[in-house]
Amino acid sequence: MVNRVLIIGLGLIGGSLAKALKKKKFAKIVAGYDRNPDDLQQGLDLGIIDEGFSDLAEVVATADIVVLAVPVKATENVLAAIKPYLSPATVITDVGSTKANVILAAQTVFGTVPDKFIPGHPIAGSEKSGVAAADENLFAKHKIILTPLPESDESATRLIARMWQSTGAEVLQMGVERHDEVLAATSHLPHILAFSLVDTLAKEQDSREIFRYAAGGFRDFTRIAASDPTMWHDVCVANKQEILNQIDNFTDGLATLRQAIVASDSQSMLGIFTRAKSAREHFSKMLTGTAYSQNSHKSQVTFHVHSAAPLLGRIRVPGDKSISHRAVMLGALAEGITHISGFLESEDSLATVQAFRDMGVVIEGPHQGRVKIYGVGLQGLYPPPGPLYLGNSGTSLRLLSGLLAAQAFDSQLLGDNSLSKRPMERVAEPLRKMGASIQTSEGGGAPVVIQGGQQLSAIEYQMPVASAQVKSCLLLAGLYATGQTRIQQPAITRDHTERMLQNFGVQLTIEDDAVTIASGQVLKATSIEIPADISSAAFFIVAAAINPGSDLVIEQVGVNPSRSGVLKILGLMGADLTLENPGMLSGEPVADIHVRYAPLRGITIPDELVSVAIDEFPVIFVAAAAAQGVTCLSGVSELRYKESDRIEAMQEGLLRMGIDVTVKGDNILICGGVLQGAKVSSYDDHRIAMAFAVAGTIANSEVVIEACSHVATSFPEFVDVAQKAGIRINKEET
Ligand code: S3P
Repeated sequence: MVNRVLIIGLGLIGGSLAKALKKKKFAKIVAGYDRNPDDLQQGLDLGIIDEGFSDLAEVVATADIVVLAVPVKATENVLAAIKPYLSPATVITDVGSTKANVILAAQTVFGTVPDKFIPGHPIAGSEKSGVAAADENLFAKHKIILTPLPESDESATRLIARMWQSTGAEVLQMGVERHDEVLAATSHLPHILAFSLVDTLAKEQDSREIFRYAAGGFRDFTRIAASDPTMWHDVCVANKQEILNQIDNFTDGLATLRQAIVASDSQSMLGIFTRAKSAREHFSKMLTGTAYSQNSHKSQVTFHVHSAAPLLGRIRVPGDKSISHRAVMLGALAEGITHISGFLESEDSLATVQAFRDMGVVIEGPHQGRVKIYGVGLQGLYPPPGPLYLGNSGTSLRLLSGLLAAQAFDSQLLGDNSLSKRPMERVAEPLRKMGASIQTSEGGGAPVVIQGGQQLSAIEYQMPVASAQVKSCLLLAGLYATGQTRIQQPAITRDHTERMLQNFGVQLTIEDDAVTIASGQVLKATSIEIPADISSAAFFIVAAAINPGSDLVIEQVGVNPSRSGVLKILGLMGADLTLENPGMLSGEPVADIHVRYAPLRGITIPDELVSVAIDEFPVIFVAAAAAQGVTCLSGVSELRYKESDRIEAMQEGLLRMGIDVTVKGDNILICGGVLQGAKVSSYDDHRIAMAFAVAGTIANSEVVIEACSHVATSFPEFVDVAQKAGIRINKEET
């Protein structure tokens, strides 16, 4: 425990720090010094400090930590005043909101900055001031920026970090210049704007009237204009150059908006407002660590499932994830406005929307599945302001790599833990062959870094793995590469990109096992209706197929042959499935899928059905577990590279449920049997979580599935739809 902390300056910040340190018992004694005897007395009376001093000579030598909680411009004088009494072991810090001038003050007083002087800045405050307003929670969950110099003593930095952490704050470190630049943009400029707006309006003749009617917007925007004028004067003097840079930046932005208003240029106005709105939402989500969609990503989600009654009635599942991604991507690259309906509002597809917003595309919605995209044309994307964050979505990251490799600007693509582990060399390698400059990270995963400004040339590429994401990535790159890009696939993979490119007016040459695209084509905006996702429907198809008495219709599901292998596999196993109301939605075949219970039998799954049912294997494993006899499959090693190692995750969970699953090399054998209640993990994989929920409908006691928050990546409403269909499932969020 630290013996004595001395706080010089008992204002709001100094008083609040003293109060918090006392409460958390960070030091045996929290001492205070203030030039003003009344403030000192008040600090003692309110129990904010243990000891009060009006003479620095008495106390500085015995302090382990001295905190300068004084206005920035007083720093030099205070340092000079404490210098004669400092012991070599004393660690000094400050709370100034600019840092370069604090460093300068220390250099002036000491010659060089003492290695035990660790400058700091709590990003916390209040419109109130003075020791009476001291609040022990002022720093809780706020950021404290420390700006140690390269020569600073590391143990001193650690001590100051520990002091702030004890108040509940989060401690960050950055360089002095960076601090002043960041603060000029995020704190100083907004304060200056608020002061200036209020001052400007107050000068108007009828200002009283204006203020009387000033509604929430004015109040919210100008709240900070009630802060301490002297302090803000000092900040402007201290951080003059950075603040001027930010004012110039802002003035340019305002001039652009002004011009858009002058010219009644709706697209520019909407562009600015939409980008700002989405950036604001994006930042708040990043800051609070929340997710894109509303009903998703609580820290822990657990499913509890009990054996079901029959599944009956008619249900709808949300829009197709693969098609939703592609609709946004091609709509953004098209010329004109694209209208989408049936869009999947899940984490993965919203990550794609956000990425294009970050690249300057105006996107309205999604609202009840409708999205309006103001296409910018193939050459119209802007450099994103920072790395593109794609969450859990492999499709976003891989397809965007092809597009970004052909842009004039640099980019960086990031994802969550699971996505960072997935193989990205499978797209980087052929893109390099086309002339792209692209690096993957350790182990070939994300972050993926792309240098723009490369002219791509067409290649003929034989894909070593059957992957629609690789094919689609190269088709997007092929739109920009000189010549004809031809991609050959070892097995059929989903062809949504091909179908949708054709909807946008792009010519392709399609052969049984290959597709060719020529550059120099223009995408023309269109309207797209997205069918329900067969990958989401599959959970209910299997649940109805294995629960006696079930009779369920899932409406308007995409049944594209390159996606619907699950229907064929279940048909071979004896499932009673019929397709009703067939039709076409934006070039994709759809139908109502009618499922009635029928006993299933184990089969050998034909190899040619693997690539067209690739995402449905978790739930096909469950169908096999419920079937009579043994189901054999091979050629599914790709399942190891999905959102989790799906072979391992399903084997582990089914074994826990009493089902015999043997994996030998590339061969898997599943012996049907009686499923028992158990606790299993989804390994943060949405499809594993939903597959075990289906298994739970026929288990002999409760099935508890842990780590289910990622269900929001593809099917945020899964639990509601499941309950509606008759599945007894509850979601526990902690
Ligand atoms: C997808 C392709 C498949 C699939 C994924 C979505 C797509 O991945 O598993 O869920 O939208 O192109 P691979 O291309 O890795 O097989």
